[in-house]
Amino acid sequence: MSTPPGVGPQRQTEIYLAGIRGRRPTIPFDPGKLERLARSRMTAQAFAYVAGGAGAESTMAANRAALDRWRIVPRVLRDVSGRDLTVELLGRRLPTPFLLAPVGVLELAHRDADVGAARAAAAEGVPMIFSNQASRPMEACAGAMGDGVRWFQLYRSTADELVASFLRRAEACGCDAIVVTLDTKMLGWRSRDLDFAHLPFASGRGIAQYTSDPVFRSMVEPAAVERSGRPTPAAIRTLVQATRSYPGSFRQNLRSGVGVAAVRKVMEVYSRPAQTWADFAWLREQTRLPIVVKGIVHPDDARLAVEHGLDGIVVSNHGGRQVDGAIGSMDALPGVIEAVGGRIPVLFDSGVRGGADAFKALALGATAVLLGRPYVYGLAIDGEAGVRDVIRNLVADFDLTLALSGCRSVSELRPECLQLAP
Ligand SMILES: Cc1cc2nc3c(=O)[nH]c(=O)nc-3n(C[C@H](O)[C@H](O)[C@H](O)COP(=O)(O)O)c2cc1C
Repeated sequence: MSTPPGVGPQRQTEIYLAGIRGRRPTIPFDPGKLERLARSRMTAQAFAYVAGGAGAESTMAANRAALDRWRIVPRVLRDVSGRDLTVELLGRRLPTPFLLAPVGVLELAHRDADVGAARAAAAEGVPMIFSNQASRPMEACAGAMGDGVRWFQLYRSTADELVASFLRRAEACGCDAIVVTLDTKMLGWRSRDLDFAHLPFASGRGIAQYTSDPVFRSMVEPAAVERSGRPTPAAIRTLVQATRSYPGSFRQNLRSGVGVAAVRKVMEVYSRPAQTWADFAWLREQTRLPIVVKGIVHPDDARLAVEHGLDGIVVSNHGGRQVDGAIGSMDALPGVIEAVGGRIPVLFDSGVRGGADAFKALALGATAVLLGRPYVYGLAIDGEAGVRDVIRNLVADFDLTLALSGCRSVSELRPECLQLAP
């Protein structure tokens, strides 16, 4: 069997050849099956945290509905034998238009957590955006990535000196850009987590950027753990987990109460509800890196981002995790693209599950798309290898969608490739 050129056909051939030898893929291709298999590999609380959204989760549904409303109109009899999936983003040519979205608390999916995802991203040539709420320090991820492209996502906390330290570390570990997430001034009303009364940060999960930071550590004042009544088994487990999450000797940390104190400090400082556009002047002084803002869905906010000299936008509603009943991310994209008018790159996420979704977002003018939950599910199923497979499948699917729609390169994608469903 000779393989037609391009990553899509090559991936198909690899899978079908393995099938001849009786090997079936570890990672399901259907997004629903992928989610269900990941669910079977995670604790109920962990799965709820990853899969859940705000309120009745209608924004998650809106994300899918908005993507589905647009239909691709394929063209035929064009030469699509050689395809170019590369895109130019912030002065760098990337092999594909995909990045891994910043996702916190990846230890809920797999013990390799962020480091496993970082290795996979680097191996597949896809940039990874390190989360502010990561389970492993950015230095550990950067160290696992070689020359792989990485960005750092920041939540602007109330502790300026801590923000400055995060930015210094991001620069030192080779990040290309800072992504400031704007839609999470506080946590959304996440029904699944509320049902379990489960917040990962409360037990010291997803706070590795903090506990590995010298400025943060100087802010934590160890305090004896107050006891009120007989401790329950759950309370003891939380104490052990929080203590274990703090670097250093478990015994000493338990004695000093520093693990619990760190958790409290994170909860106290992590968000800055008073943050406004004016705060970017200060942030700009703290870093030489481009600043991309994530979580924009209104054209006026997009205009403000440009006016404040920001370097890029991610159209996103945080995967429906923040505001229930919000506009689907794809419904927001055209307005933002128009408002920005090509002055800065616009990226897209929330609901991307296959190559066609990426095709649609790029056709409407996005420069690249961020992959969220699907790679977390790959991580849960098979660690680093699972993330690699999810990325490879998505890129292959995208390549085939491009070719079968009559396009040879990402730069050929235009709104005319699409139609709104009647
Ligand atoms: C479990 C989970 C944790 C997330 N953590 C962060 C985070 O720390 N910072 C951030 O900017 N976005 C975070 N996001 C949002 C993602 O970056 C992205 O916007 C979202 O996953 C896109 O939606 P989708 O996964 O449904 O495609 C998180 C999303 C999930 C599912």
